[in-house]
Amino acid sequence: MNILILGRYGQVGYRLHRSLQSLGRVTAYDRESYDYQEPETVLKLVRAARPDVVINAAAWTAVDLSEQETTATRTINATTPLAIAEECGRLGSLFVTFSTDYVFGPGEHKPIVETRTRDPLNFYGQSKADMELGLEQLGVPFLNFRTTWVYDSRGKNFLLTMLRLFQEREEVKVVHDQIGAPTSAPSLAAAITLVLTKLSTGSGTWRERCAAVSGHYHLSNGGESNWYAFASEIRDLAIAAGLPLKLKNLEGIPSSAYPTPAKRPAYSVLDNTKVHETFGLQMPHWSEALSLVFEDVLRK
Ligand SMILES: NC(=O)c1ccc[n+]([C@@H]2O[C@H](COP(=O)([O-])OP(=O)(O)OC[C@H]3O[C@@H](n4cnc5c(N)ncnc54)[C@H](OP(=O)(O)O)[C@@H]3O)[C@@H](O)[C@H]2O)c1
Repeated sequence: MNILILGRYGQVGYRLHRSLQSLGRVTAYDRESYDYQEPETVLKLVRAARPDVVINAAAWTAVDLSEQETTATRTINATTPLAIAEECGRLGSLFVTFSTDYVFGPGEHKPIVETRTRDPLNFYGQSKADMELGLEQLGVPFLNFRTTWVYDSRGKNFLLTMLRLFQEREEVKVVHDQIGAPTSAPSLAAAITLVLTKLSTGSGTWRERCAAVSGHYHLSNGGESNWYAFASEIRDLAIAAGLPLKLKNLEGIPSSAYPTPAKRPAYSVLDNTKVHETFGLQMPHWSEALSLVFEDVLRK
């Protein structure tokens, strides 16, 4: 398999670059080779590589800043990915991309299935919803993995922010009324590697196999949490590992006490049933995935 990864040094792109090596030739590019604000710079690379799979792991992920930077957010998260997807359609490549729980708005407090109507509360979610709708309209084979609360032992994320704050401050306050599922970049990379491994064999042509599974999939670690519970688990792991913490008081607060430019849904746990039934994938529980990433943090 010839795989092209765009967004080589993002949390997910970085892990995918490693885990996909077993599947064939993997080429990965980053911002030094293109700019998502200029789609043609990306399309040139896609045409030259003629890959079987293009993985779009680049994105605008600064959720609050998106409220101001709407043009850049829309171009990076919707316009350019859709131009790549269209090119993939012409080349016969499978387009793999990512979306977010933030495409959904308020709703029932039960795990969200893929068919629920999109209703984003913030501009980042809107940009991803635009990408999703565009993919449906293009009619090219794609795999869009909606995921949540991504973190790793590198990059910009909640885990590393909490570890820094716990070492700098005696008191840290974290919202307790937004429920979701922390998801580690290594679990996402392992899951996508398994999906592509399964797709690489089977009956029919490559295009037929891709078309048969094309669509949106929910993919997050198992279980559910809230930001305060996630932070508490990080604190417990840090204490158990003997890290030098200044922290004396970790306090749960309501979202109303921590206003942010972008609104977030109160409940956005994704239901992983479809990815399980289609690809036989079982995602690990979020606390198990966190323990593994934490070991990686300690090794650094
Ligand atoms: N992080 C989350 O909590 C989360 C939650 C749900 C869904 N997702 C989705 O999952 C996917 C992977 O997320 P992630 O956490 O791995 O993201 P990430 O770590 O923020 O990585 C995004 C990558 O996109 C690149 N990028 C940003 N603007 C660019 C531009 N104008 N031109 C070229 N490259 C650009 C960044 O490059 P630089 O490093 O050079 O800026 C970075 O390598 C994304 O689609 C994201 O929307 C993420």
